[in-house]
Amino acid sequence: RQNERESLLIALNFAKTYFQELMQKTDEGKSIGLSYFRERGFTNPTIDAFELGYSLDQWDGLLQEGTKRGYNPDMLEKAGLILRKEAEGGGKAKTFDRFRGRVMFPIHNVSGRVIAFGARILKTDKNQPKYLNSPETTVYHKSQVLYGIYQAKQAIRQEDVCFLTEGYTDVISLHQAGIKNVVASSGTSLTTEQIRLIARFTPNVTILYDGDAAGIKAALRGLDMVLEEGLNLRLLLLPDGEDPDSYVHKVGADAFKAYIKQHSQDFIDFKASRWLTEAGDDPLKRAEGISDVCASITRIPDLLKRQTLSQRVAQVFHVSEQSVISEINRLLRKQQ
Ligand code: GTP
Ligand code: MN
Ligand code: MN
Ligand code: MN
Ligand code: MN
Repeated sequence: RQNERESLLIALNFAKTYFQELMQKTDEGKSIGLSYFRERGFTNPTIDAFELGYSLDQWDGLLQEGTKRGYNPDMLEKAGLILRKEAEGGGKAKTFDRFRGRVMFPIHNVSGRVIAFGARILKTDKNQPKYLNSPETTVYHKSQVLYGIYQAKQAIRQEDVCFLTEGYTDVISLHQAGIKNVVASSGTSLTTEQIRLIARFTPNVTILYDGDAAGIKAALRGLDMVLEEGLNLRLLLLPDGEDPDSYVHKVGADAFKAYIKQHSQDFIDFKASRWLTEAGDDPLKRAEGISDVCASITRIPDLLKRQTLSQRVAQVFHVSEQSVISEINRLLRKQQ
């Protein structure tokens, strides 16, 4: 088992270097892959730091190169790098590369070893997924991984806060702008394992999701999970239609940091402001809002924190603290 793990990691490292060299040294790689990243504003140090690459638009470039270098096709398949299709009528099985004609984002574990890839098509095409990811393998469990954690961990410790984004390019563009304490859940909804990974470096999380309906939904879903793990949470939605990548390119690093300072909210304000806008003077809607915020407070394991936050809820909704505490206790009893 240990041997297989190590073999997969070695194969994945080979693939990473192979994709890097294709992008830096071949005509196709330079004119398609490298220019794609250039157009997105990525500099050479950024491309190196994230070990970005390109996969040729061919059926079996990696398979051939790998075989030539002595990698066993079974191993390449177990690493998620090649696919095997049984031929109809019992003929010879066909093997070919999983990633073809895409820009490649290696996914690193905390110690910096490549465990998987995310791969983006160059031109949006309704018939193909924008991003293709490695499958689950012996070394890649996507629910346990945060994209960028290796490049971010030192800065997360130093800044004592982790910015959590949705996508690969959000991490990379913020990193390039000097905001390095940033990771992404990369398309999966946030998991408890991912939150615990952050907690190894800091108790403070700020969610920076896209300013669209999907981003709001994901933020609300992630909110309770972060609280449940006992972490301190702030949230921020980018302006509608923007994500951290597009926004930092638009306004620059300083304005981006200022935006975070001005617009990030703790979970009470984040939820309350949405409810208060919707409720107006409707007392029933306001009550529903209070109950919703209280439900999130019941997720917090620490009793003292829950009590302090009850005071805040009372202030924000202009109700007595006692009524907030009663609601929290009612919800807690219901959960038992
Ligand atoms: P860019 O268009 O390259 O800027 O990507 P993005 O990160 O802004 O993409 P988006 O906001 O649409 O999605 C956020 C993240 O979800 C991406 O970074 C991916 O990790 C993941 N994702 C998006 N589209 C797909 C897809 O088609 N398939 C899979 N498996 N994941 C996706
Ligand atoms: Mn495992
Ligand atoms: Mn989005
Ligand atoms: Mn996005
Ligand atoms: Mn984007």
